[in-house]
Amino acid sequence: MMKKAALVFLALAIAVTSGGRQKPKTPVYLDPSADVEARVEDALSRMTLEEKVAILHAQSKFSSRGVPRLGIPELWTSDGPHGIRAEVLWNKWSTANWTNDSCIAYPALTCLAASFDPAVSALYGKSIGEEARYREKDVLLGPGVNILRTPLNGRNFEYMGEDPFLSSVMVVPYVREVQKNGVAVCVKHFALNNEEKYRHQTDVYLSDRALYEIYLPAFKAAVQKGGAWSVMASYNLFRGRHVCEDTVLTKRILKDEWGFDGVVISDWGGCHDDDLTAEGGLDLEFGTGTNGLSSTGSVFDLYHLANPYLERLRDGRASMEQLDDRCRRVLRLIMRTAMAEDKPYGSLCSEEHYAAARRIGASGIVLLKNDGAVLPVKADAKKILVVGENAIKPLNVGGGSSSLKTQHEISPLQGITERAGCEVVYARGYVGSPGTAQDGLATARLQDSRSADELIAEAVSLAADADVVIFVGGLNKDGQQDCEGTDRVSMDLPYGQDDVIAALAAANPNLAVVMVSGNPVTMPWADDVNAIVQGWYCGSEAGHALADVLFGDVNPSGKLPFTFPVKLEDSPAHYGGKEFPNPGKTFYEEGIFVGYRWFEHKGIKRQARRRRGGAALHFRSRKQRGAPREGTQGLPEGIPRARAELRGEDHHRQR
Ligand code: GLC
Repeated sequence: MMKKAALVFLALAIAVTSGGRQKPKTPVYLDPSADVEARVEDALSRMTLEEKVAILHAQSKFSSRGVPRLGIPELWTSDGPHGIRAEVLWNKWSTANWTNDSCIAYPALTCLAASFDPAVSALYGKSIGEEARYREKDVLLGPGVNILRTPLNGRNFEYMGEDPFLSSVMVVPYVREVQKNGVAVCVKHFALNNEEKYRHQTDVYLSDRALYEIYLPAFKAAVQKGGAWSVMASYNLFRGRHVCEDTVLTKRILKDEWGFDGVVISDWGGCHDDDLTAEGGLDLEFGTGTNGLSSTGSVFDLYHLANPYLERLRDGRASMEQLDDRCRRVLRLIMRTAMAEDKPYGSLCSEEHYAAARRIGASGIVLLKNDGAVLPVKADAKKILVVGENAIKPLNVGGGSSSLKTQHEISPLQGITERAGCEVVYARGYVGSPGTAQDGLATARLQDSRSADELIAEAVSLAADADVVIFVGGLNKDGQQDCEGTDRVSMDLPYGQDDVIAALAAANPNLAVVMVSGNPVTMPWADDVNAIVQGWYCGSEAGHALADVLFGDVNPSGKLPFTFPVKLEDSPAHYGGKEFPNPGKTFYEEGIFVGYRWFEHKGIKRQARRRRGGAALHFRSRKQRGAPREGTQGLPEGIPRARAELRGEDHHRQR
């Protein structure tokens, strides 16, 4: 009996150990079903000091390390706010010449803002988020929400205009919908990056009121209402300190006051000093130093948050508590993106996305004027004349980091020709610059050796018997126009366009002028032109979106997200002959009086502004033209107070 019992016991023991062998338990940080915070803490507890520092800086142009030993993946970022940028080499800006990284260029964010429609913003975020996911990007470097303070800022086309409320409303759906794809947005450029030429040197001083009421709200909405998972610290200085090394904006306001639990990423090359970077509010450093490998191996070891930071941690000059806070944020970002299990697959260049790009464009196009019902183009039109370089010029390439390699780009001329159903004739009208072409053909196609007079004469002669003339001009993505790293030197249209427009207006009253730009321009011809349309940079589907509006298939409902001053000096950033651009201290003396607030406060006539129910152009009558601009006396009462605040004690001075 005893023997039998022993045998039974032995069999049970074998059964239990062999059959029910315990599978090794999945570590919490690798368990997708576990709470993100628990996963973060578990991962952090397993990391060495060196591994913690390694995830706080770039390993290539657009990626940062994970923890290979623990199976924690690296993070991949990509520009930009309007589409997924083509691949570049490991640590060079040069294109990698892939053949499968063309994308859809969505309309620039000025166009999105002009839709005044959060549902359009949600469509935008969903579409671009799916493209980013498909291209396996974890962080999309956008959207940009810097306020339009000066009409000369080269990057205004990337942002949402002059009004903090509009920007705050329009940024939230974009953020939420992108992040539903397991892709983080990186709201930029936080903050006060309102001009480009001296963006690395401009040192902004302004009142707390202007900071909180004008320049921060869109970022705050993106963080608190949108739930943004990362924010990009800007190049400029704020009250004497580079924002990438600052303690007020990125620490006290963003993290402490707003409760931001994401990652502060530097703009590329925005960090300058080992100690200040170690102390500041930055979490993830990109773009420091030169391309390629340094003499000591990887240039990435020289990053301020790399070996110099490791040294400071080891000798006690830097706090381990801050190190762990930075690592928690980066690990949280990795868990939310690269390690998230429920990510959708995404899609690229789909019919749905092209339809979205077209709808977003048509939603943002603004009808500024339409006397004599020039628009929509009549169904019985027999001949349409299209004039202007922007009717044929590729406008998705260039402009800086938002430049895109598109699968295709429907030009305004193509869109109009497809839709017209009658003869469409084209005349160049003017020659701009060869610009940046996606392919050599574009540059070759744009060459034209004729003189300005010859070009105007050709356009005028063709205009005489056209049923309608559509001029498509404006700015482009070349330097000193709508382009990152540069500012415009004038608010006037370049390339002699004013003369072309005036000549066409005299030749045919059925003229519609379409401005393709991301910034205001002066319109000396506005009184003499019957129809004016703000056409924006509408991306891959630009021609279709524009034709939808010009032919009446879509009712123009866009509204201006920024003011068109009659002349530059009327603008608050240029009032009274202020120096611009300014490589040093820049005082935002206008305080909260930015954009329409300024013009209404001072009673200055505007060239164009949004009025309830649609946009309208305000013109001074001919007799008024000579009259002194009313309201030019003195400064609005807000200026003396703003000046006092600027120079007095501020709540948030750099410690
Ligand atoms: C640029 C831009 C920023 C961009 C980054 C990466 O300098 O300021 O908007 O996302 O570098 O290209």
